[in-house]
Amino acid sequence: MDVDGPKPKGKPVVLWIGTNTCAGDLLSFLNNSNPDYHAWVNEYVDFRYDYLIGAAEGPRNVEILESALTDMPGQYILIVEGTVPVGSKELCSVIGIRNGEPWTAFQAVRELGAKAEYIIAAGTCAAFGGPYAADPNPSDSLPLQAVLRERTIINVPGCPINPEWMMGTINHLIMYGVPELDGLNRPKLFYGQTIHDQCQRRVHYENSVFAQRLGEPWCMYKLGCKGPTTYADCPSRQWNSEHLNWPVKANTPCIGCTSPEFPDGDMPFFEHLPDVKLPGIKMRANQVGKWAGLFTAIGIGRHLAANILTGRLAGNYKRDLVNLRRKKIFKKGFRGKGK
Ligand code: SF4
Ligand code: F3S
Repeated sequence: MDVDGPKPKGKPVVLWIGTNTCAGDLLSFLNNSNPDYHAWVNEYVDFRYDYLIGAAEGPRNVEILESALTDMPGQYILIVEGTVPVGSKELCSVIGIRNGEPWTAFQAVRELGAKAEYIIAAGTCAAFGGPYAADPNPSDSLPLQAVLRERTIINVPGCPINPEWMMGTINHLIMYGVPELDGLNRPKLFYGQTIHDQCQRRVHYENSVFAQRLGEPWCMYKLGCKGPTTYADCPSRQWNSEHLNWPVKANTPCIGCTSPEFPDGDMPFFEHLPDVKLPGIKMRANQVGKWAGLFTAIGIGRHLAANILTGRLAGNYKRDLVNLRRKKIFKKGFRGKGK
């Protein structure tokens, strides 16, 4: 792989940097099967920088990123995995040493983001804050959109991402441009429907046959399943390279890992969402999802709306304030200019 010089003809350049992250998203991505990772890097893209398994180390790594800044502005796809610490905590994430000084994630994201053709947030931390910005957020971490408000960030959330969500998004950018996005800038291709609407156990939900304990083959709504308010295609796409399995099929409730409120707003994970009790309104879980979607459209957070609808607001007051504050921080960016 030639790391210097102009962009090779016909091979889109991809840079994948890691900030505050567990590395789960890139590790998951490496398991893609069609195309598999080796075919993808050998034939389709110039995967010029990745923070985890790239051959270069230390100063050479920094040179690769600097050469992208100087030699190919507007000609590379930037993928950021993880949250970005800001202010006095900026040094909590450093991606290298430049000119004898730490090159912080905040600086790198600002510089590389300004010159990228497209920008993707990989995983729920980069997209919405996720576990690395969870309360009490000791590193003052923010999601990508909050530090790059002037650019449109394509959010590919998941904890971790399904490899096909990322592979599909990158390839769509290369072949057709920006895919159709939802109100949170997630590609509708992968996040267009709720888990609940595609779930193989939906028939049990409709017949009110609920699992009382983990391991029972019925609907896990009463064990805290967040499928009704979570958007992703896990039930149809599934996981494990050959589309073998997904959480509900493996007998664990969906914990809402692609949602902006994850994890604070989705805990406790295995607690049943109470039945809806509002004066004059009777609602089941699938309807909660739809009403929450409507409230989201008029500016109320989806999970907050779901909590209002399910009567959980008082109990979750603190968590929702945390989430609202987090959303407010980066809300503007979703309507940013950029590509
Ligand atoms: Fe499936 Fe969960 Fe919906 Fe039950 S509540 S049908 S387990 S997504
Ligand atoms: Fe995440 Fe729920 Fe899918 S926990 S992996 S969105 S089933």
